[in-house]
Amino acid sequence: MNLKAKLDELEIFGKVAKASATLGIKSYVVGGYVRDLVLGRPSKDIDFTCVGSGIKLAQEVAKSFDQHVPLSVFKNFGTAMLKLDDWEIEFVGARKESYRLESRKPIVEDGTLQEDLERRDFTINALAISLNREDYGDLIDPFDGLGDMKRKIIKTPLEPGITFSDDPLRMMRAVRFAAQLNFDIDADTFFAISENAARLQIISAERIIDELNKIVATPKPSYGFKLLFASKLLHEFFPEMVELQGVDSVDDKSHKDNFYHTLQVLDNVCLMTDNLWLRWAAIMHDIAKPATKRFNPKVGWTFHGHEDRGARMTPNIFRRLKLPMDDRMKYVQKLVRLHLRPIALVKDEVTDSAMRRLLFDAGDDIEDLMTLCRADITSKNNKKVKRYLENFDKVEEKMKEVEEKDQVRNFQPPVSGEEIMETFGLSPSKIIGEIKEEIKEAILEGKIQNNPESARKLMLDIARSKGIAPKDTHHITKKTTD
Ligand code: CTP
Repeated sequence: MNLKAKLDELEIFGKVAKASATLGIKSYVVGGYVRDLVLGRPSKDIDFTCVGSGIKLAQEVAKSFDQHVPLSVFKNFGTAMLKLDDWEIEFVGARKESYRLESRKPIVEDGTLQEDLERRDFTINALAISLNREDYGDLIDPFDGLGDMKRKIIKTPLEPGITFSDDPLRMMRAVRFAAQLNFDIDADTFFAISENAARLQIISAERIIDELNKIVATPKPSYGFKLLFASKLLHEFFPEMVELQGVDSVDDKSHKDNFYHTLQVLDNVCLMTDNLWLRWAAIMHDIAKPATKRFNPKVGWTFHGHEDRGARMTPNIFRRLKLPMDDRMKYVQKLVRLHLRPIALVKDEVTDSAMRRLLFDAGDDIEDLMTLCRADITSKNNKKVKRYLENFDKVEEKMKEVEEKDQVRNFQPPVSGEEIMETFGLSPSKIIGEIKEEIKEAILEGKIQNNPESARKLMLDIARSKGIAPKDTHHITKKTTD
């Protein structure tokens, strides 16, 4: 690869080279940007390391632009950042110790380029490109990162125990890079991860989940999860998922391995969507199977109620993993709770009211729920898979018909609480909710149509049965005939 030509494509490299020459210091492009350049992956973050002050270099570079460019200086860390359109450009002096931008520890000792590169996480991230006159554009690759890219290997530059003790999050990063790049983890490096997995305990949940979500966002996350499981990293932060693994047998009856099933569902979902939260719904959908597992000599293994129990487990798991506790959690929880419902609708004799209930409960997430249900078919028998998918096609068709007719998907009560209070001269009380609920039930059951006229009529009937009279008969007659 002609790196010089690549550098010419962006003016920033020329500007940094010029600024370094002016200051009389050596500077390099380093880390992830170089890796991605070689691998042909897009990247918007550029890191520059110089043997000297990164802050002075950044200030010199900022001066060279005609327009004002925002420069942030972090004195304690000896770093500075320029924002240029959507580029994030970081400057730092070469360091002797562990390279961790997010470290809360203040700046470590200055070092040479070699010292800086050897304290980085992986050989593929320990590459530099020179911006200095004598060897401009040359690749500096002391740990054969280029070779590891060709061999598709994640490997630490130093003895892995040292690299991981500098920052145990790097064990997660090893799996994350392997998952993103579809690389293997070098045997010694992997062994060290297994040995040191428990050290993940000193890492904050926020940093762990960042890496985990990058794994979940890969095209085939099962690979990353299998590495997390095999290295026992997963055991440190997501024991509920680990619990899914394993097969029990009684009287020659065994159930499927729910860990590998979950991973297959996750991969299936990923073929259909990039939605991170739908991917999380796949991860969580059977999470309560271990807790609800029973053996019944007549029917074999059962997991009754795992969908409700799983939904109840969702907030705790989200809270602990530092996943968002907002609508995104509620969405995952809802899909977990509802994931068996469409299967129950496959039977021919299913009523419209069962359809309406699911449409009402799922609302706008009905399509995502169907995606999850389709992904949940993991039979190895292709004929079965085909039959199940066709069944879901039928369910979806039927749902469409019911929705066109009754529009319950975004159900809005056709009579409001205010109207009930106004009609009967009531102040806010429990009874209002009860009347509303009965009307909703009647609509979902198909006893009345989903329109204000039928709903008002029923409202009067319900009130009458409860001994409540309208405050103004004339007003009601007029309204109900509107
Ligand atoms: N680095 C490290 N150890 C860490 C984090 C980062 O050695 N725990 C080094 C690596 O050399 C990495 C560089 O710092 O390439 C930049 O880190 P970061 O921006 O987090 O990662 P990238 O490698 O750029 O990858 P990505 O942008 O995909 O996170």
